[in-house]
Formats: sequence, structure tokens, C-alpha cells
Amino acid sequence: MSLSKKMEGALNDQLILEDYASNLYLSMASWCESQTLDGCAEFMYRQADEERMHMLKIFHYINEVDGHALSPGIDQPPHNWPSVQEMFHEVYQHEQKVTSAINNLVEVALAEKDHSTYNFLQWYVDEQREEETLMRTILDRIKLIGDGPQSLYYIDKEVRTINAKAEKAESI
Ligand code: FEO
Repeated sequence: MSLSKKMEGALNDQLILEDYASNLYLSMASWCESQTLDGCAEFMYRQADEERMHMLKIFHYINEVDGHALSPGIDQPPHNWPSVQEMFHEVYQHEQKVTSAINNLVEVALAEKDHSTYNFLQWYVDEQREEETLMRTILDRIKLIGDGPQSLYYIDKEVRTINAKAEKAESI
């Protein structure tokens, strides 16, 4: 089988979004380290690696089905955030944007009667549900911890724990 031009173009566009997410999260990891939020930095470094893997999985798929994967050119992400709370809000918003892009890809696959790509994309549908849940959990915990004098210490500790759990789940 081979990809339609429309499907190939839409998958190549997704490479840009996934690679941007990887760079955005890498930048966030660096900012967290600069704020001595080491638990949050660990979380963002792992997320950055995950996004790179998401990008590569699509990249290989495009070539496997006789398309041409285009190495994405990406914009430089921001380097600073006003607070860790706002940074995690941005992560959640970005994940919602990715979810909507994945849903659009599924629509294209259906319209093109491309069952192979439709099937391939189901992994991303599940992954996005998990990522959104994970980010919502972090935002809920941040809200619960509040803005007290030691809130950053507790947020960092909480995110470190969440990261360790996510890492363990991935290795199973
Ligand atoms: Fe690959 Fe988190 O979107």
C-alpha cells in the first residue's frame, strides 16, 4: 500500500508538532533546572524524550508505507515562564492542541479510506488520552498545594513522584 498525498502531507505536518513539543519540553526542563525545580526538570526531560519518540514513530511509518518523511523545521520555543504553575498550564494546552491534531489525522485517514494509517493512529489516540490525564493530575495537585510559602517545594516533590510512576509504567 502507499500513502495518498493528502495523508502524507498531514502526517508530515504532525512531525512538526511533535518535534516542537519535544523542544518546548526540553526548554521547560532547562528553565525548571534554573529554578532548582529538579523534580519538574526530570519530568520535562522525560516528556521531551517521549515527544521525540512520538515524532520518530510517525517518521518511520511514513517511509514504511512508501511515503517520504520530511525532517521537520521547527520554531524556537520560549525559554522562560512566569511561574511553574503557568508552565504546566501551557503543557496542558499544548497537549490539547496535539489531541485535536491527532483527531484531525484520524478524520483524514477515514476520508481517504486508509485503514492502515487509521489503525496506526489509534496508538496516538490512546497516548493523548493518557497524556491529558497526566497533565490534569499535575494541575489538580498544584491547585491543591496552593500558593503557600513552601508550595514550590511541595509541587516539585509531587511532580518527582508522578514522574517516577510514569517512568515505571513506561518500562512495563
Ligand atoms: Fe506527542 Fe504529547 O504529544
